[in-house]
Amino acid sequence: MIRFEGDVEYILSKAVPEDFKSLFTKKLIDEINSKVLLRGVSKKEEGARVVSYEFLDNLIRLKIRSGSKVRLHHAALRIKNYLAPILGKEFRIGIRDIILRNANIILEGSLHVSTSLPIVKEVRIEDKITIVSLTDLKESELKRPIIDRLLKLLDYKEKRAKWGGKVEHWRLIKKSVGKEPKFRDDPNIILEKIGWIKRYATGQWLYTPPITHLLRKFESLFIEVVLKPLGFSEAIFPKMNPLEIGLKTGHLRGTPHQMFFASQPISYNLEDFDEWIDYVSVLNKADPDHLRNFIKPPTYFICFAQCEPFYWFFGGEIIDRKELPIMWFDRSGPSFRWESGGLRGLERVVEFHRIEIVWLGEPEQVIEIRNKLLERYEYFMDRVLDIEWRWAWVTPFYLVHAGEIEEEKEGEIDINRPGTIDFEAWLPYKGSREDPHAWLEIGNISIHGSKYSEPFRIKHQLKDKIIWTGCSGFGLQRWFLAFLAQKGFDPDNWPAEVRRRMTRPPRSVRMVTYPKSKDGEKLLEEIELLLSKLPSE
Ligand code: SER
Ligand code: ZN
Repeated sequence: MIRFEGDVEYILSKAVPEDFKSLFTKKLIDEINSKVLLRGVSKKEEGARVVSYEFLDNLIRLKIRSGSKVRLHHAALRIKNYLAPILGKEFRIGIRDIILRNANIILEGSLHVSTSLPIVKEVRIEDKITIVSLTDLKESELKRPIIDRLLKLLDYKEKRAKWGGKVEHWRLIKKSVGKEPKFRDDPNIILEKIGWIKRYATGQWLYTPPITHLLRKFESLFIEVVLKPLGFSEAIFPKMNPLEIGLKTGHLRGTPHQMFFASQPISYNLEDFDEWIDYVSVLNKADPDHLRNFIKPPTYFICFAQCEPFYWFFGGEIIDRKELPIMWFDRSGPSFRWESGGLRGLERVVEFHRIEIVWLGEPEQVIEIRNKLLERYEYFMDRVLDIEWRWAWVTPFYLVHAGEIEEEKEGEIDINRPGTIDFEAWLPYKGSREDPHAWLEIGNISIHGSKYSEPFRIKHQLKDKIIWTGCSGFGLQRWFLAFLAQKGFDPDNWPAEVRRRMTRPPRSVRMVTYPKSKDGEKLLEEIELLLSKLPSE
């Protein structure tokens, strides 16, 4: 747990009178330690304590240790508020300033903290303890939010280190019966071989008309079976987010290593690009290092969670209770997530297409909608797609840090509270169902509590009520891959509901040089023959 220690000096308008010294020793110090510095804390170690004091000319110097609730700088200000009236009324002395010296923040674990931060003087790591020493701070600086933000950051780092570097903790909550797969091959390899998808860049594919047709049918199936019956309506969300949005959602702090950023051009005048045009024309090179000079620093991040604009839209508004709950979905464009390595076909991609389902309401409404969605998801996975699936309760670190949940304890899991459920499907081509690597996360569903409604200031009409939010992602590529991996390309092996809604895909692309291999051509013919069992549009 975070601790804080340092010397606080109160600079008085006159020398400290002897009478005050004896009053302080006999009475005030006890009062400070037993009341002032423990106000509002439930455990003593969360409060602060004056461990020694001395008087020097016009200065009172206190050595203070504090816990996580009454932090050193707040303790210093509390003591000032307590002493000022006594010094003023009884001794006609004012407090001119407060200086915090030799302040150390002590954290468990070896943490990396940047010394380039203002107010940080030095960072030392000793015996799995990290000590962050601060520069001397005056009263005006103690009141600025910067020190609180630094403490929040350090608290975040300490908790994250304890969390064990994992993004989330995983616990199985439900699974389908075992289902004999109808297929064992790897659809990723097949799709590329038959030329239905072609790699564009790392983790990006061009989806040709036949697979696009099937993906779109799959998408409508989900909308018709899961979303429409529950009353969700479609909206179109922007796909580039101003950076500030990421500050509020927490993504800029939590996942900067997975995000793509975008820049505006340096100006709207083509003349400002003369040098660039010359360079490109003569060298015929698309050199990103040179391009740097002609673009502004990035001011956007590209669609990442896909629900970001939803919180923004309701942010700063007061919501009429009659309009609650609000239930939308967006499928208007791709999301981008940088994945380093391990990219494979449609299993892990950088650019992916998702139906993002979002809702907000009173806490009970948000829980109820999540539960109804879960019921429909289960029906969809179990009956409509008839795949082998499992669900896990995962506790994402971001909810722990937002204070929405406590770290998970062993024992019963209560899912009717903020948290995330991951949906996973078995990929038989990757191994047996006992092998953890043979399972793929195909989607998730979350209750966020007020993790987003608070920073975006989404307010309920009634003062004593609060707004919660929830979201769920249906990643098209992954769901479709899971289906193909268990059911294959033969419609005779597809469950009735899927078969009923699928129609024959349009012609595959064939060129003199495409698909790339004889094998691929042959396989394509076989698959086309199988799919010709489907009715045409
Ligand atoms: N927005 C959620 C996520 O990014 C669900 O899609 O995981
Ligand atoms: Zn979301």
